[in-house]
Amino acid sequence: MTSNFNQVWNWSSLQRKTDALMNKAYINAAERLVINALKINSAPQNILDVGAGSGLILRHLANKNLNHFNYTGIDLNTEGLEILKQRASKLNLSSNVITKQDDITKKNSDFICKYDMIISNFCLYTISNSDRRQQALDNISSYLSDDGSFHISLPSENYSAGNISFQCFKDELIDKQNVVLKTIRTTLLVPYQWHFVLKPIEAKVESGDFTKFNPLQIETEFRKSKLKITSLGLDYGGCGYHIHGFRDKG
Ligand SMILES: C[S@@+](CC[C@H](N)C(=O)[O-])C[C@H]1O[C@@H](n2cnc3c(N)ncnc32)[C@H](O)[C@@H]1O
Repeated sequence: MTSNFNQVWNWSSLQRKTDALMNKAYINAAERLVINALKINSAPQNILDVGAGSGLILRHLANKNLNHFNYTGIDLNTEGLEILKQRASKLNLSSNVITKQDDITKKNSDFICKYDMIISNFCLYTISNSDRRQQALDNISSYLSDDGSFHISLPSENYSAGNISFQCFKDELIDKQNVVLKTIRTTLLVPYQWHFVLKPIEAKVESGDFTKFNPLQIETEFRKSKLKITSLGLDYGGCGYHIHGFRDKG
């Protein structure tokens, strides 16, 4: 298991350096999370990305013709945040982007600023301790402005490396890339990711090191943190939930 985890870590580290190595189903699901977030909250000014990694969410926000927004990306991992900064610079967004090494499970007084949109793509499931995860949700709730919206993705109870790889194949095939690239990605990259990334993550989810969720559990944990869910739907080949909503003011 440890060597598996190291493989995931090494691969994730490589993947963070170039989007070309990322799993297409994951990229596309993250884009839909952003598109649906902007349908609910079309002109966010202050956006917080929790567990921002290398800034996949920023990449998707950047091509959505938003007028002006300030984006803060927090993560435990500084390597990802360095890449996020480079991404911001390439997108000409450096002046709109702040990165912070921070643990969302800790109460942080720096966050007195309220956010009108909080996004978190596949981060909270890595916090297996339920009290710490609840604290993370409490923090997200308290960092939201009165009308602020949240948009969170988490693995579903049906999380499966096989289903995600199948979705990857489908997403690769419909992608407008040249045939050579498509062939390389579907014959080499997708099987490689299945073996070295998705299977080890599936094993961690199955062992309880990472958490998978059912709708009742999501509803219960979010309600405890005064996060009112307005929509919850499956995405990512049925392996992830996209959860949208607002802070419960009641
Ligand atoms: C699967 S990656 C997702 C990264 C990014 N959201 C994306 O979609 O590409 C999960 C990220 O959550 C971060 N993370 C895990 N626990 C965290 C915590 N307690 N506080 C902040 N970030 C955390 C990890 O360091 C990692 O970068």
